[in-house]
This record gives sequence, C-alpha cells and structure tokens, in this order.
Amino acid sequence: EERTFIMVKPDGVHRSLVGEIMERFEQRGYKLVGLKMMTAPKELLEMHYHELRERPFFPKLMAYMGSGPLVAMVWEGMDVVAQGRAMLGATDPLKSAPGTIRGDFCQATGRNVCHGSDSKAAAAREIGLWFREQELSHYTNDQHAKWVYE
Ligand code: GTP
Ligand code: MG
Repeated sequence: EERTFIMVKPDGVHRSLVGEIMERFEQRGYKLVGLKMMTAPKELLEMHYHELRERPFFPKLMAYMGSGPLVAMVWEGMDVVAQGRAMLGATDPLKSAPGTIRGDFCQATGRNVCHGSDSKAAAAREIGLWFREQELSHYTNDQHAKWVYE
C-alpha cells in the first residue's frame, strides 16, 4: 500500500491546526500509520531539505522548521502521495486553491503550515528519515476495505 510523509510545521502547531489537518486525511479515508511530535534537530532538517541547501532561503527555512515542535505523520492509501500534495495545495499560498490546506490557512510561502512528500521516492526517503520501521503501525480498517476501496 502506498505511503506518504506529511508534516504539520511549527506554525501549524502554534496555530492549533494539527487536528484540522489530520481530520482532512482521516475524512478522505487515508489510514494513519505513523505519528510523532518533536522539535526537530538541525541535522534532521538539513537531511530532510538537503535538495534546497543552495537556495537563498535555506537558512530561514532551517530556522523556521526548527523554531518549535512539529508533527510528523505517515499516511497510507490509494495514490496518497499525489493526493496528499493536492490536499496541501501549492507551495506559494498565492497559488494554492481555496479548499486546500495552504489555500485555506496560509498567506506566506515561508509559513505554509504543512509538508508533503512530492514523489513516491521522496516519500520512501522521508519516512526512513523520520521513522524507524518499528514505529510504523500495520492494521486493517474493515470498513475501508469495502467502503473506501472497491
Ligand atoms: P514542502 O512540502 O515543505 O517540501 O514544500 P513544497 O514541496 O511545496 O516546496 P519546496 O520543497 O520547493 O520547498 C520547501 C519549503 O521551503 C516550502 O514549503 C517553504 O516552506 C520553503 N520555501 C520554498 N520556497 C521558498 C521561498 O521562496 N521563500 C521562503 N521563505 N521559503 C520558501
Ligand atoms: Mg518539497
């Protein structure tokens, strides 16, 4: 089953959006299989965003992401990587549609509330970075097998 890594960033935690964001994934029928809250160490954030290390905003991004606790999650379900990105909305809130998380709750790219893996390969890499295998749950949702999937 496909999995993605979703994170409520420190601004999302401070703004009490954790429940709202989790609820959207639950209501869509996705299954929560990993969950933890932490203030992320700098080294982990640098690995997570290593592709952006040369970008001018990188120091600000590291400061923002390390500024407080975040909530790291793994969600599982059909096409959840692409659907997760669609549910988050565009990186720049000016381009994120109303109805998306960013389109409903943000104004600034540098305070865009949430993260989602942008490909299946990125999801696998990020899940491995943030979670140990034994921290991920395996269970079936009987209702979903019939009423979310055909
Ligand atoms: P993530 O889900 O967080 O990875 O966002 P994304 O995939 O939509 O965008 P990207 O990976 O390109 O950038 C990662 C994060 O860096 C964004 O979510 C923003 O928080 C931040 N970021 C990206 N571009 C800018 C920028 O131009 N200025 C600032 N201040 N932050 C940026
Ligand atoms: Mg990204």
